[in-house]
Amino acid sequence: MNIQEIIAKKRDKQELSKDEINFFITQYTNNNIADYQASALIMAIYLNGMSKEETVNLTTAMANSGDILDLSEIGPVVDKHSTGGVGDKVTLILAPIIASLGVPVAKMSGRGLGYTGGTIDKLESIPGYKINISEEEFIQNVKKIGISLIGQTKNLAPADKKIYALRDATSTTESIPLIASSIMSKKIAAGANKIVLDVTYGSGAFMKTKEKAKELADEMIEIGNLAGRETVAVITPMEEPLGRNVGNTLEVIEAVEALKGNIAEDVKNVVLELGSNMLKLAGKGDNLEENKCKMMENIANGKALEKFKELVANQGGDVSYIENTNKFERAKYILPVILSKVANNVKNQETGIKTNENITEDLIDGTVKELKAEEVGKLSVFLGGGRIKKEDKIDSSVGIVLNKKIGDKIEKGDIVAYIHSNDEEKGKEAVQRLKEIYVIE
Ligand code: URA
Repeated sequence: MNIQEIIAKKRDKQELSKDEINFFITQYTNNNIADYQASALIMAIYLNGMSKEETVNLTTAMANSGDILDLSEIGPVVDKHSTGGVGDKVTLILAPIIASLGVPVAKMSGRGLGYTGGTIDKLESIPGYKINISEEEFIQNVKKIGISLIGQTKNLAPADKKIYALRDATSTTESIPLIASSIMSKKIAAGANKIVLDVTYGSGAFMKTKEKAKELADEMIEIGNLAGRETVAVITPMEEPLGRNVGNTLEVIEAVEALKGNIAEDVKNVVLELGSNMLKLAGKGDNLEENKCKMMENIANGKALEKFKELVANQGGDVSYIENTNKFERAKYILPVILSKVANNVKNQETGIKTNENITEDLIDGTVKELKAEEVGKLSVFLGGGRIKKEDKIDSSVGIVLNKKIGDKIEKGDIVAYIHSNDEEKGKEAVQRLKEIYVIE
């Protein structure tokens, strides 16, 4: 068996056997297959898809590429994972709420992928927070304080870690078998026996339609249940960015505000929907509405925020940043965005000719009709908040703060958003681009 034959088979739309999939995953994990060969195979999978059986085999091989944690000594542990979104800071809010209600949360999160953000990049913007801890420490943390949020350790689904980084850099993210295997291999390896999936659809999600999201959800539920993990999925819209802030530090700040009770309505809906299901799976109550009330109670009484601080402190983070979010380093340039339309209908009085000098900007009013999450996500990447190449460093402080979202009224001259940039020229360009992303009627 060799990798060229496997690539050719998938390129020619044939089904790969379990052995071929195992060969690819073990050899790639052990660095015996080059990135360019793995990229070619991933692109072939992206273009030609995989059968259900192939996807299950790929997921199992990826989960088995490293350790499979056994968390049975902790009791029923619930995990949550999103298929990705823009402005998606749900884990930072949801996980401490659930842990504060006595349900252990052991979660291994990912980095940003494509134009979507990643929880790990967000957590890393908290000074000192360690996302790379040993598996023993991960388990000890959950035992001690009921929560741990970490990045992918070297030994948990290492194949996914490598493939994930490649996909990010090769435009091969939006693929049902690749997303399902990536998420479920991590979930299986991380050991939780109950899993709640947030499957997003819309402009800012990898699945553009609700039907595709349902297809992905069904596939992941089947994989989870086959692996003996009780799995449920909630399908949520991601047409516009979730919440107000997009960017790593900015989203941590929004999450802290949410835990203090200042939570945007769309974020609240997703948090409550997922959390009520997590509580149900953990045996804390079958009534989803009652579960939502318990969650809101722990925001109101401050227990959820306390749990978040405990998590940050326990993983080496500086809690003073959570206590006072003004301490976070801000971007150098914070530029307001005011919507205007360029008009060139003013003629030079003497010559009667329209010239560039006569270009005017007419301020716009109306109602926000569209604010495509994908475009806002790409803007955040452009500012340095995401990666173009897999080794790129993230700039934590950049991003976008949205004052106005779909359905909001705009008066002429309103500041609809702020661009946070560390580069003045990029910031100015981002202002212009964001003006075009807003569709007003
Ligand atoms: N999250 C993951 O972990 N993997 C994907 O492929 C998409 C979202």
